[in-house]
Amino acid sequence: MFHLAQESNEDWWEVEALYDLCFAPGREALSSYRLRDGVDPVAQLSLTARDEDHILAGAIRFWPVQVGTDVALLLGPVAVHPTRQGEGLGGFLIRESLRKAKELGWHRVILVGDAPYYERQGFQRLEGVIMPPPTNPDRVLGVALTDSAWDGVVGQVKPLNQT
Ligand SMILES: CC(C)(COP(=O)(O)OP(=O)(O)OC[C@H]1O[C@@H](n2cnc3c(N)ncnc32)[C@H](O)[C@@H]1OP(=O)(O)O)[C@@H](O)C(=O)NCCC(=O)NCCS
Repeated sequence: MFHLAQESNEDWWEVEALYDLCFAPGREALSSYRLRDGVDPVAQLSLTARDEDHILAGAIRFWPVQVGTDVALLLGPVAVHPTRQGEGLGGFLIRESLRKAKELGWHRVILVGDAPYYERQGFQRLEGVIMPPPTNPDRVLGVALTDSAWDGVVGQVKPLNQT
C-alpha cells in the first residue's frame, strides 16, 4: 500500500514540510540537530513512503555521527502524516531502513526518542553515550545491527569528523 523510495533532491522540501507538521515548532533548535549541521544525510537511508496516489505519508532520514572514537548512524527525523499514524508505517520505515543500513555495512544506530515506541524496534537505553546538552539521558537509545556492536562504545556524540 505504501511505496518506499530513496529521497530525491526534489523531495527535500516536501519532507521538511511533513516534519514541520509532525513536530513541535522549533524542532531545529533540538540538540540532535547540531549533529546534523553541515553534514549530509546518508542518501541511501533517507526514505520516503508514498501512497498509491503518490501522496507523501511518511519519511525517515539518517546522519552519520561519531560516538567517542566510533561511528554510528543517527536515526531521525522520522515522521508519519497525522492521518496515517497508527497503521504501522512508522515501524515499517524504521525496520526497512535498519535492514538496509545493515546491508550497507553499518554496525550501530543511535537516536533521541521515546523509549516505549522505539523499544518495539529493538532499541535500548545507551549507557555512557552522551548527547549534546540539553538531552534527557533516558531518551538516548541505540540498537546494534551486528553482534555486540555497542559493547565498549562510549563517550560524547559529535558530528562526524569534528575533533
Ligand atoms: C512516532 C511516529 C513516527 C510513529 O509512526 P506510526 O506510523 O504512527 O507508528 P506505528 O503505526 O508503527 O506504531 C503505532 C503505535 O506506536 C504507538 N506510539 C506512537 N508514538 C509513540 C510514542 N511517542 N511513544 C509511545 N508509543 C507511541 C502508538 O500508540 C501505536 O500503538 P499501538 O500499536 O499499540 O496502537 C508518528 O506517530 C509520528 O510521526 N509522530 C510525530 C513525530 C514524532 O514524534 N517522531 C518521532 C520522534 S521521537
